[in-house]
Amino acid sequence: MKGLRVKKRDAEKVKKILIKNKILDNKRKVKRDRDYVIFPISCEKCEVLKSLGEIVEEDFEPLERKNLYELVYELTGKKLKFSFDIIGNIAIVEIPEESLDYKHEIAEALLTFHKLKAVYRKASEVYGRTRIRKLEFLFGKNESETIHKEHGILLKLDVKKVYFSPRLSFERKRILDMVKDGELIVDMFSGVGPFSILIAKNRDVKIYAIDINPWAVYYLRQNIELNKVENKVVPILADCSRVNIKGADRVIMNLPKESHLYLEKAIEYINKAGFIHFYTIYENIEDILRKLREKDEIKILNKRKVKEYAPRKYIYVFDLFVEKM
Ligand SMILES: C[S@@+](CC[C@H](N)C(=O)[O-])C[C@H]1O[C@@H](n2cnc3c(N)ncnc32)[C@H](O)[C@@H]1O
Repeated sequence: MKGLRVKKRDAEKVKKILIKNKILDNKRKVKRDRDYVIFPISCEKCEVLKSLGEIVEEDFEPLERKNLYELVYELTGKKLKFSFDIIGNIAIVEIPEESLDYKHEIAEALLTFHKLKAVYRKASEVYGRTRIRKLEFLFGKNESETIHKEHGILLKLDVKKVYFSPRLSFERKRILDMVKDGELIVDMFSGVGPFSILIAKNRDVKIYAIDINPWAVYYLRQNIELNKVENKVVPILADCSRVNIKGADRVIMNLPKESHLYLEKAIEYINKAGFIHFYTIYENIEDILRKLREKDEIKILNKRKVKEYAPRKYIYVFDLFVEKM
């Protein structure tokens, strides 16, 4: 097998060039002796190699990798911290400041390890009304549309244009398990429809799925078709505070930073009595409920920590039961 022999002091620099040019054979172990490092290479005639070192014939041991973080270590020589989500065949990686110099190596490792189409980096927090974030393309093919599979449903979406988090998968199944056939449901901040489609696919229900982001509703419509729930889910492109629906048995409110501003509206949707799944960043909602309780009876049935949205800051869900007086 072919290898590239370079002086030890040049090894780090050369490794970066090999990785960047996709010439390093990362299925084989790098060899080292006192003065030299020999890299396994996948292309012996590449122009870029000429100035880097000597091409040699070598036997390289295959690399036995146990996990992704070991692959990153093999590519960078560093124990780096990062976290990621996989949405369809795209990875969205979060890299702390101190590991940013190695973002391309982390992305390459992710793409190789999980056989993905593309890797993007979170380049901002989620912002604005549509709750999307800036993404930096790192590796693979710069195509941000994908199809994600979750609990047997298909969700088509563009990671750059809509909000979607696979970390809510457990939560969606938890809500589904509470829904009964015959319910009328309002999904006030539906996005591309992960709650609505999952429920519609598994229950005999009617769901109004509302979102203000035209791209979210564009994909929601496609997801309704993809999952064949046309007769159960009604997509609505609008600000939910302007949508009038009466008689709901259940309302889903997944807009954690602002959902408290829409609670009165959610109660308006509810029939004489019904459930509200209230996602919020507030751990204690008694103050929020105090004013509403002047008009209606509201019981907190259950509270759950859903996920961390910033270091040691959490999103909670409160399952509420509302009885109108
Ligand atoms: C946190 S995302 C949740 C999306 C979806 N429920 C999910 O789990 O993927 C919140 C969504 O609410 C939408 N949104 C924000 N304000 C809205 C409003 N006033 N009326 C309707 N949709 C709104 C955003 O466009 C975004 O898609």
